[in-house]
Amino acid sequence: MTFNYKNTAALLNKATNLRPTLGMVLGSGFQHALSELDISVELPFSQLPGFPSVGVSGHAGKLIIGKFGETPVIVLKGRAHYYEGYEMDRITFPIRVMAEFGVETLLLTNAAGALRRSFKPGNFMVFQDHINLMGKNPLRGPSPLGINRFVDCTRVYDEKLRQILKKAGSQAKLKMAEGVYLAISGPSYETPAEIRAFGRLGADAVGMSTVPEAIVARQCGLRVAAVSCITNMAAGISGQTLSHQDVLDVAGSKRNNVSLFLGNFAVMYGKSLKASR
Ligand code: HPA
Repeated sequence: MTFNYKNTAALLNKATNLRPTLGMVLGSGFQHALSELDISVELPFSQLPGFPSVGVSGHAGKLIIGKFGETPVIVLKGRAHYYEGYEMDRITFPIRVMAEFGVETLLLTNAAGALRRSFKPGNFMVFQDHINLMGKNPLRGPSPLGINRFVDCTRVYDEKLRQILKKAGSQAKLKMAEGVYLAISGPSYETPAEIRAFGRLGADAVGMSTVPEAIVARQCGLRVAAVSCITNMAAGISGQTLSHQDVLDVAGSKRNNVSLFLGNFAVMYGKSLKASR
């Protein structure tokens, strides 16, 4: 069954009078970071036709619309992953819904393992660029009339948003850096040999999400920013074995700072919008 993102966006239009231009997707490590958000509507993904259900622990599967200060935002708390078995069009469907609803700027978040040796668990990496090794492109397949499938990826991650993200994170006392994210499909973690290979390709961090959403968001004309919570050193770098629970624990330990970080980002984004109008 195929779903129409316009119908799902129409449901959101009915659910609230707020019309956010900022959207956020909260991945592992960012789930509990909404203490600064004044919530106006909360809908489980199960009530939104076309949204995939979220089966990974640490992901809530809720859509929330509210305000950070004066800035209205739409937040997806949790995401479905390609490794859960969904096709790319399903995991990126919520992005098309947000774009149709009026979102112009999208912040994507996730947990990632570090290849860059100067990173430490608990640091944050703003995406400068990405390498897609998921084996799939979310734009493969029939392209609806009038929609460009040959999306330019020279500058996926907006320069100005990157600066705002780094400032918002530093003000929340988080250690921020910029780097290249490499996406694999998972769900197994990488081998040390893969990590050595990815390092030679130019990756600074590795994870199992975000890239498909960023590509679809660019197709929809959104400005995109993305940030990883570094939860571990990638396989073979520290000699430690990797577990999903450790990933969640490191990310969870930063929840108060991350709440401030997201709130700061939204407010700074709101101000930059006002200044540019
Ligand atoms: N590899 C892939 N995905 C991840 C990792 C990792 O080391 N840490 C958190 N997500």
